[in-house]
Amino acid sequence: MNLMAQQRRTLIAGNWKMNGQLTANSALLGDLLATPLESTCEILVCVPSVYLAQCEALLQRTPIAYGAQDVSAHQSGAYTGEVSPAMLADFSCKYVIVGHSERRAYHHESDELVAQKALQALRSSICPIVCVGETLEQREAGRTNEIVVTQLRAVMDVLDDGALARIVVAYEPVWAIGTGKTATPEMAQEVHAVLRATLAERSEFAADKVRILYGGSMKPDNAKELLEMPDIDGGLIGGASLKAVDFLAIVAAA
Ligand code: 13P
Repeated sequence: MNLMAQQRRTLIAGNWKMNGQLTANSALLGDLLATPLESTCEILVCVPSVYLAQCEALLQRTPIAYGAQDVSAHQSGAYTGEVSPAMLADFSCKYVIVGHSERRAYHHESDELVAQKALQALRSSICPIVCVGETLEQREAGRTNEIVVTQLRAVMDVLDDGALARIVVAYEPVWAIGTGKTATPEMAQEVHAVLRATLAERSEFAADKVRILYGGSMKPDNAKELLEMPDIDGGLIGGASLKAVDFLAIVAAA
């Protein structure tokens, strides 16, 4: 691990997906806040946008940051049902997930749309967490690197070097999401290294600065070995982020 890599602050991000309601959220956040967090890593929960106000009320001036799970590629206008980056910023939201595989699969989001979302988020000073990942079929066909590099390059194409250095990337193999199957640390590290090398082709600075998270059935019992890998700078946690003890155990492992 080089010096710059050691300066990257580990980010443990929970993705609640479409889970939670006011009462349950208060309980979960209360449990997270009740535990003294000695970790030096950054902790983030990505919640459904309607609960950002609740997060703003409960999490401001605490060690836990909050973010959204999606954002519009437009700043305003006739886009019924969409939420713009400026609207997220109204709630002091610092992060947003873009291009999650569930949005790519169920909402047919293209690489180009994901790239526009990342660009527009950055214009509102919100850090996009850009998700990339291959399906099982693509992995078995030996296309993993090609798929993730294409997904990342689409975002790189619309950002200048300064903006590129501000994004977070999350490698989430689709076959590992919610399945209990995890990429081995070596498998994940291999892809993370490819992603970092792709960033380095454009900017060594960005490659050193950008945090690359792993997501896909990360749990308390496998987090440590994944997070020890040199190019794994954190985790994007789904199921295990809905239980305070599990999420905190992953934070402790980091
Ligand atoms: P799981 O941790 O439930 O596999 O979900 C991963 C994920 O999709 C996070 O964005």
